[in-house]
Amino acid sequence: MGVFQSAWEQYLALMAKSPVACAFITVAVFVSFLVTWAQFEYKMNCKPSEPPFVPYYIPFIGSMVQFGMHPINFIRENQKKYGNFFTFLMFGRKMTVCVDIDGNDFVFNARHSHVTAEDAYNSLTKPVFGADVVYDVPNAVLMEQKRMVKAGLSIENFKSYIPIFIEETNQYIDKHWTKEEDTVDMLKAISEMIIMTASHTLLGPEIRSKLYEGVADLYHTLDGCFTPIHFLFEWLPLPSYYASDKAHAELDGIFGKVIKERRANPDAKHTDMLDVLMNAKYKNGKDMTDKQVGNMLIALLMAGQHTSAATTTWSILNLADQPAVADKARAEIEQMMGTKVIGKDVPEPSYEQVKDFSVLDNVVRETLRIRSPLVEIMRKVIKPVAIPNTEYVIPAGNYLVASTAISALDEKYYKNAEDWVPSRWEQSDENEGSPDKATTDYGFGATTTSARSPNLPFGAGRHRCIGEQFAYLQIKTILYVLLSRFEFSLDPKRGMPERNYQSMVMLPEGPVLAHYKRRHD
Ligand code: HEM
Repeated sequence: MGVFQSAWEQYLALMAKSPVACAFITVAVFVSFLVTWAQFEYKMNCKPSEPPFVPYYIPFIGSMVQFGMHPINFIRENQKKYGNFFTFLMFGRKMTVCVDIDGNDFVFNARHSHVTAEDAYNSLTKPVFGADVVYDVPNAVLMEQKRMVKAGLSIENFKSYIPIFIEETNQYIDKHWTKEEDTVDMLKAISEMIIMTASHTLLGPEIRSKLYEGVADLYHTLDGCFTPIHFLFEWLPLPSYYASDKAHAELDGIFGKVIKERRANPDAKHTDMLDVLMNAKYKNGKDMTDKQVGNMLIALLMAGQHTSAATTTWSILNLADQPAVADKARAEIEQMMGTKVIGKDVPEPSYEQVKDFSVLDNVVRETLRIRSPLVEIMRKVIKPVAIPNTEYVIPAGNYLVASTAISALDEKYYKNAEDWVPSRWEQSDENEGSPDKATTDYGFGATTTSARSPNLPFGAGRHRCIGEQFAYLQIKTILYVLLSRFEFSLDPKRGMPERNYQSMVMLPEGPVLAHYKRRHD
């Protein structure tokens, strides 16, 4: 006691004599305390039965900053040191990274009794999607909801979407790109094209027509919750947490009115997702509630918004950087359509033709390989799980992190893996799927069982994306219109943007500038 008292007295005396030296000593003592605490905590975390733990120097925060700044570099560096399975600390959470094809398979095919997506994602997605859908329902109900949505993503409906995609893209261009040539924020432009095309086709023309009467602002409010802070905290007294409840209440009112009007006119024919969900039934014969229908539509819109906008934007940026690929796509389109495709009055391709635009297909596929929008796929371990062919067991409470971007950019699987080379997909599909073609039906249709593949931009297993075909069709049709009407080049000062990891979906770092120039006959 006496020792502490005399140290404290000396400290007070030093503060009176030299406050700067005193501040310096305070900081030094505090830093050494933190480092010692971190080392103690780190030692407790290192267990021979668990994957190696990445060292850190700030307790609780752990490696959050390094991971958040550049997750791909962070994972790659630690993969080199520790192999395909390792754990790091992030804001008190133990995150076990599982990479390469073994890691992909382990996470995507983990048993639902042991590892769940809802425990990992619901705090992030509930404010955005709303209650009683996707991760806010038991997994068996989600599988049924996915089955209902899949029924709405039918070829018949897709056929009716192509003219809508074309009309909406043209409308945007005619309103905003009015000059002969100009430099524009490409991410902003494409994001608007995606929201208009998706709202019209999925939510229906009534809600699309209200987009600029406040609905777009409500989406924007919900989108504001799609941030890492909502992943970390289920609730905080912050504006975004209050705002999402209010936005949902307003959207419920808007959707509810449209649903009521449709019910009052049962003979009118619709080919959108709203119509499908209004008439869908659970296995027990019950309908989706109107609130569930509205929330599911919001969930679908949000699931596709940033992912498809990022993919379309990166595609245009790469086509602007390699105009020879754009010319090749145009030549194939003209040959397939049997006519010149230039300027505003582009002919309407059929569903089959859009599907067969193979150069555009390879453009999108290659863009998804090198710029997969979802860099991290998360799960929470609720019962300990053993990693096959290792001595490791991951304890309950840990989070799993898969990153298919790591294997998709690995030289072991793709030559010059960092380069954008759409023609690499002309030769073969061999790297695309695992050799094991067996399928499993989790309740929403057959899905390839194994996830031992390096390139899985749409995931795998029970949580696999059901929007892939819709996304390809939407992105390819938008690219079809844009390439017909314009030549693109990168802004010479800005060049090709870097990747921005600050949002939940990996976007190009702004400002995303590109130059358009009208094409004429
Ligand atoms: C799931 C990617 C577009 C709806 C997923 C997953 C990925 C993904 C990786 C798996 C997530 C996980 O395992 O945790 C993408 C990409 C897209 C895209 C790259 C565009 C380029 C869409 C669109 C829709 C959609 C347009 C809706 C029309 C869904 C749904 C799930 C999902 C409902 C299932 C969630 C679950 O079962 O947990 N997506 N997606 N996605 N996606 Fe997509």
